[in-house]
Amino acid sequence: MATTYRSLEIVPGETGYGRKYVWQAPVRLAHWINALAVTALFLTGLYIANPALAPNGEAANHFVMGTVREIHFVAGYALLFGFLLRIYCFYFGNNYSRSGFPFVWRKEWWADLRAQAMQYLRLERGHVHLGHNALAGLSYTFFVIFLGWCQILTGMALYSETNPGGFWDRLTGWVIPLLGGSYMVHLWHHTIAWSFVVFTIIHLYIVFFDSHQFRNGLITSIISGYKFYQKGDLDHDRWLS
Ligand code: HEM
Ligand code: HEM
Repeated sequence: MATTYRSLEIVPGETGYGRKYVWQAPVRLAHWINALAVTALFLTGLYIANPALAPNGEAANHFVMGTVREIHFVAGYALLFGFLLRIYCFYFGNNYSRSGFPFVWRKEWWADLRAQAMQYLRLERGHVHLGHNALAGLSYTFFVIFLGWCQILTGMALYSETNPGGFWDRLTGWVIPLLGGSYMVHLWHHTIAWSFVVFTIIHLYIVFFDSHQFRNGLITSIISGYKFYQKGDLDHDRWLS
């Protein structure tokens, strides 16, 4: 069986640091599409739920809610595109695009999860990973992938209500009876929206903390693609080979 984590074979440069291209362009593009789309979806979603400061007069004339809904739907399509692009990267990208996969049936995955949690709690540097560590991978899998698909499915189901029998109705219409009707779909869609706030606060805190504590250029890595490493840091460039 292939090992998921192994020590780097590359010796760091004279400065004690090495640099490796980790996040390919489509992975970075998917990240920023998703981050921008989620931000727009959350803000416009809150307005749809509670249209504070709505202007007076006939809605069709000022069309504020119509515009906000339009932005929500465009951002919804962008999120769907970002997800499909990221799935493409998972299958056809480098092995870092598959890092962080929750190998819950492997002992070494649990060991990495525990080690990472303890290092954060004790403020220790530990072995930095090129690619995602188990804890990061788990949080992306649950908060972004699982709850993200819940939002896309419930969102598209609500969207399909304006076009019964249309494409989205045939693809996602089943979600509405499954969750107990349109009201319940709104309620789930609205509740899950807040999980992205929880995720984003934790994500940003950890990303800034990690980048500062581990000196691995983490923040710039999601812009440039390059990550820095030191002796003993862990590589993920083998996955299932
Ligand atoms: C200014 C805001 C943000 C910054 C600076 C940022 C930075 C980063 C960095 C540095 C990584 C790589 C971390 C690692 O190695 O594990 C990352 C990964 C990730 N971030 Fe963000 N992030 C931001 C906003 C967001 C938002 C709003 C979301 C979604 C709600 C998000 C979702 C993700 C996901 C899913 C990954 C995994 C990337 C992948 O493998 O495709 N990020 N982010
Ligand atoms: C992270 C992703 C998303 C977030 C945070 C989000 C957030 C929200 C929120 C808070 C509401 C108000 C719910 C209510 O109280 O009734 C809403 C409504 C809605 N969302 Fe989303 N949403 C997301 C993704 C999507 C997607 C992908 C679509 C697909 C097009 C979508 C379509 C809709 C529709 C159709 C409504 C109902 C609009 C109405 O009743 O006028 N959403 N969204």
